[in-house]
Amino acid sequence: MGNIPAWINGSFLRNGPGKFEFGKDSYNHWFDGMAMMHRFNIRDGQVTYCSRFLRSDSYVRNSEADRIVVSEFGTMAMPDPCKNIFARFFSRFKVPKATDNASVNFVKYKGDYYVSTETNFMRRVDPQSLETKEKVDWSKYIAVNAATAHPHYDREGATYNMGNSFGKSGCFYNIIRVPAPGDAEKEGDAAGLSGSQILCSIPASDSRKPSYYHSFAMSENYVVFIEQPIKLDLLKFMLYNIQGKSFNKVMSWEPETDTIFHVVDRRTGERSKVKYSTPAMFTLHMINAYEEKDFLVMDMCCGDEGNVIGDFTLVNLRRGPGEEMDKFYNALCRNLPRRYVIPLTVDKDTPTDQNLITLGNCQATAVKNKKGEVVCTHEDLYDDELLQYGGLEFPAINYAQYNARPYRYYYACGFGHVFGDSLLKMDVQTKQLKAWRHPGLFPSEPVFVAAPNAREEDDGVVMSVIITPRQEKSTFLLVLDAQTFTELGRAELPVNIPYGTHGVFHETG
Ligand SMILES: [Fe+2]
Repeated sequence: MGNIPAWINGSFLRNGPGKFEFGKDSYNHWFDGMAMMHRFNIRDGQVTYCSRFLRSDSYVRNSEADRIVVSEFGTMAMPDPCKNIFARFFSRFKVPKATDNASVNFVKYKGDYYVSTETNFMRRVDPQSLETKEKVDWSKYIAVNAATAHPHYDREGATYNMGNSFGKSGCFYNIIRVPAPGDAEKEGDAAGLSGSQILCSIPASDSRKPSYYHSFAMSENYVVFIEQPIKLDLLKFMLYNIQGKSFNKVMSWEPETDTIFHVVDRRTGERSKVKYSTPAMFTLHMINAYEEKDFLVMDMCCGDEGNVIGDFTLVNLRRGPGEEMDKFYNALCRNLPRRYVIPLTVDKDTPTDQNLITLGNCQATAVKNKKGEVVCTHEDLYDDELLQYGGLEFPAINYAQYNARPYRYYYACGFGHVFGDSLLKMDVQTKQLKAWRHPGLFPSEPVFVAAPNAREEDDGVVMSVIITPRQEKSTFLLVLDAQTFTELGRAELPVNIPYGTHGVFHETG
């Protein structure tokens, strides 16, 4: 239907949990499903589709046994808890084996595509055939136990990520840099993640209870790690390990604890000595970060309630439409866009007890207290109009041109339902929005693709995969004009596909 512009040339790759049952066993949590990769190949206005399950060791072992033998975030494989393979978040803490069910995102290191989750394992994949390639273990290259599924890329092709490590003196959050393609080869070592370095190790504020994080912020000159009060209780973890309980039970939300912004120079790895904090908040996804004058502006999707992650169990998600599902949705906190601003030049001469932010009409504040710490409050990056679309998540920008730089637009899913039920275009200058919403249609994370020779930030298209749970086999790829946010075309698929997580556009030129 409609016209998909002929200039779009490449593959829209998406990842997400796609298989929850093996034999009579079923995983409990949405994060637990086996990774299913999707490829929408677009050329000359035509779209072809294929999908494949990631042939992870977890998938292969479950399939061979015809039951669940590998534990995931919300499910403990039974009946032999002593031999369980601990997954995802806890792999960061030197748990012996973690899952390689990389169901969260497609990421790029040294020019190669990988699928990634939040453990020490990734799988390299062929972006054309979706074939599963070798398993890559972060800890073989660098002293970290995992990395997030949301790295950042600089314009020279290097990739930045974060992962944890343990030392004698406690737990550390590490900023990692993986060189651009070719840089490691020059040094004579091209394999896997070789050439990776740790730029900075940040000690956890409480080494027995490190924070969970899903992403981090990066501007032209800084990386910011957000230490939020979603805590992983390591002692509880040991105990639950013995008892055979799943991981989501050992994460706790501690709203009495502040959120700390750790500001690190991206080139020297030096960490700011100033302590920047804000009251407890919960964030999964960054929108963008940039520097303006002597300030670092950070936009992100935030909530005030961090217990939400444990709630996405399949029991909750399969409630079906009606009162029960509404009750579940209404109990979830809405994530909304916020702007935090960090004053970068704070020293002993900086005055106390006054707002240091002098950026136009910015409403975010930062005040130095008597202890020399800077306490920030945010600006709500939306008008009331957004509230009719529920919360907002899965933000995306014109990343290639505007990441880490001043920008105006981002795109996201509106969450008027447990799953995204609208696509939004947000203007961070005017806070006005444009929306695409149709009852019964559930869009996935939007991805922006710039038009050739684009002159405007939003000159291009926004793509999203739309699922229709109430109809059989009417999934479609939607292409919107990013400027007007109106539909250009759609390509229908004669299959059902599950609601996914993240994706990328891989240009094939
Ligand atoms: Fe994510």
